[in-house]
Amino acid sequence: MDAATLELRNVSKHYPGAPKPAIDDLSLEVGAGEICVLVGPSGCGKTTAMRLVNRMIELSSGDILLDGRSVKDRKPAELRREIGYAIQQIGLFPHQTIAQNISTVPKLLGWEKGRTARRVDELLELIGLDRSLAKRYPAQLSGGQRQRVGVARALAADPPLLLMDEPFGAIDPINRERLQNEFLRLQGELRKTIVFVTHDIDEAIKMGDKIAILKEGGVLAQYAPPAELLTFPADRFVEDFVGSDRALKRLALQRVRDIDLWKAATVRVGEPSAEVARKLEDADVKYPLLVDDHGKPIGWLSQRAWQGERVTHDLRSNADPIVELDDILRDALSDLLAKDSRYGPVVDKDGCVAGVLSIEALSHALAANPEDLPSPSERAAAELGE
Ligand SMILES: Nc1ncnc2c1ncn2[C@@H]1O[C@H](COP(=O)(O)OP(=O)(O)OP(=O)(O)O)[C@@H](O)[C@H]1O
Ligand SMILES: [Mg+2]
Repeated sequence: MDAATLELRNVSKHYPGAPKPAIDDLSLEVGAGEICVLVGPSGCGKTTAMRLVNRMIELSSGDILLDGRSVKDRKPAELRREIGYAIQQIGLFPHQTIAQNISTVPKLLGWEKGRTARRVDELLELIGLDRSLAKRYPAQLSGGQRQRVGVARALAADPPLLLMDEPFGAIDPINRERLQNEFLRLQGELRKTIVFVTHDIDEAIKMGDKIAILKEGGVLAQYAPPAELLTFPADRFVEDFVGSDRALKRLALQRVRDIDLWKAATVRVGEPSAEVARKLEDADVKYPLLVDDHGKPIGWLSQRAWQGERVTHDLRSNADPIVELDDILRDALSDLLAKDSRYGPVVDKDGCVAGVLSIEALSHALAANPEDLPSPSERAAAELGE
């Protein structure tokens, strides 16, 4: 099924008897195939917003449009079959096996057995659970495993809209990162419209095409792509929420290949020294970089190495750190800092020099216009294309 557009128009929710609204005049649009991340402090109305979308609870005022059509005009049961929902407390059916849980919606939709079974296998593989677990009951899994089954169940019938309420909340950092990456890769293929709730601003920055930051009382503080949020926080609340290291967080949004690298004079042992002088004129780093026969970096040459007629193997320093085109800028910066180096050779997949990463190139990237930064779906698609 194709992705749907989602629009919240002046949405408010006032729970009966509550002194204040849980959601107050919330408006936002999510484009088809986009990931919108809702973040904000506990109790700010994130789960409430999700439940209004699939009509588990009813709006007090305003409207929600799915593909331009008001959810108020839809039958709640029919609507819920069209919307995948991974809920915060997981909510698996305790008396059904994992396989039965995952096939809940396909069964409601009347899929035949073979197709449902194939889909269950496919999803177990996707979430990284062994097939043998399919016959178990939820109580026989760990909390993190149950949460992954919840994600699989939400994806089962290939819905055009997915609501995911802290889907990776109970998962350890290593598996969480694996799932996030897997999920972004999958999204590069599926291009679902996704509303994703998290407490974790780093997860929001990684996953979101756009991030909605909510304040207490369900008031929207800012709705913007991650880079914009980090560069131009709308107010003090957003600034505090994204953290004082927001400039560094921006570095997590880009890879080494995304920025303008410096040019190095790459030379080989035995090369005429006159040639080195010529190459240096054209380079951004004032030391020649010695490479081997395959173009792999060996180290930075000393002056002595090319005082004679031809280049000798006389290093000023080794080539550390060597960074890769696919490295995240934040990681590349830590490598430079760890090696106490102002620059490091950048290598491609084959290990050959593709340029030089310098502290100056990094600070230039930090000053870049946020609109130039790729969105997570674009990044995922670019990685798939490789
Ligand atoms: N059924 C309910 N009846 C009355 N008040 C409710 C109900 N459900 C939630 N609330 C209140 O509405 C507000 C928003 O709750 P909600 O569950 O949407 O927050 P949340 O942002 O998802 O929080 P968390 O991050 O802790 O999951 C809270 O003040 C909560 O106490
Ligand atoms: Mg919640």
